[in-house]
Amino acid sequence: MTIKEFLPKQPYTIIESGRLTCSAPSNIALVKYWGKKPQQIPTNPSISFTLDSCRTTTTLVFSPKTTKGLAFEVFLDGKLKPDFGPKIQQFFERILPYIPFLESYAFRIETSNTFPHSSGIASSASGMSALALCLVTLEEQLTLTSNPEYAKRKASFLARLGSGSACRSLEGGLVVWGEHSDILGSSDLVGISFPYQIHDVFKNYQDTILLIDEGEKQVSSTVGHNLMHNHPFANQRFNQAHTHLKEMIPVLESGDLEGFISIVEREALSLHAMMLTSDPYFILMKPNTLAVIHAIWDYRKHTGTPVCFTLDAGANVHVLYPKNTSADVQHFIDRHLLKYCQNKRSIHDEVGSGAKRIKI
Ligand code: PMV
Repeated sequence: MTIKEFLPKQPYTIIESGRLTCSAPSNIALVKYWGKKPQQIPTNPSISFTLDSCRTTTTLVFSPKTTKGLAFEVFLDGKLKPDFGPKIQQFFERILPYIPFLESYAFRIETSNTFPHSSGIASSASGMSALALCLVTLEEQLTLTSNPEYAKRKASFLARLGSGSACRSLEGGLVVWGEHSDILGSSDLVGISFPYQIHDVFKNYQDTILLIDEGEKQVSSTVGHNLMHNHPFANQRFNQAHTHLKEMIPVLESGDLEGFISIVEREALSLHAMMLTSDPYFILMKPNTLAVIHAIWDYRKHTGTPVCFTLDAGANVHVLYPKNTSADVQHFIDRHLLKYCQNKRSIHDEVGSGAKRIKI
């Protein structure tokens, strides 16, 4: 696969004006992406569960214009958000060679998230993938073509240029992004569905997100990724991610929960170890993040329930467990973990089926 596949091929027809709506979920990485090269190329491959109810719905309203340059406004829950401008401007500039009609229309981007904006859950993965799917849907309308498989692939390619991990939110289930010699079809350019057998236990895995700290992160992912350049442990980390992904293949096939837990928790802690050992160093975990981790370990040790944690680039904890343990684990979360959350808040989610078109 090369970037050529995503350059425009057919001539565009003119559509006067219109609107269309797409929705895309967030995702949670099991093997983490941390570090990138120019053009949003990851320095190691990653794999994630696509989530279901944590999602962004975006309506793209478009009308033709004759002035030069890009023209757009972004609204979150009906309110104009000028502060989203620079990120969308950069995204549009990056994808212009692949979506040249961006300069021919004025856009109104109306977006809303199912999860609270201040929750510390990154909205960039769901937001960028929903917007990318809107643009590819419009491209199909302008070129009078329809190829749903290609559309998702191109939307993943574009979403990656907005926010790397967003490219893993188009497909459902388990998604791999980044080249890996043991994963057929894996690519640095797009997220692909995990191409091998998956044990039933991983098809409806549960994820309860504990909102430990709802504030803005002190260090953005962009800064964190950049600190992997010249990081003393960078190469070891990239090799480790390759090894973990290789180890994941038989684990996912056989339903080996012990193996799964061991890789997933090692990955979460390695990600944060990179932050602890960057120059400058930083810590995104909070005391309650550690309290939750210890409580999960205690509970697992005493009950044998295969529950584990993972972390993204923040203080929140994702509690992962098989659906058939839901009743017990949710009781444990309510009784022993919610007290560590800000305002006792958590969000329940599970593996979902990916981005979709709502109204076209
Ligand atoms: O897509 P970004 O630039 O927000 O980076 C995401 C990085 C992690 O969430 C920490 C890991 C991952 O693979 O999603």
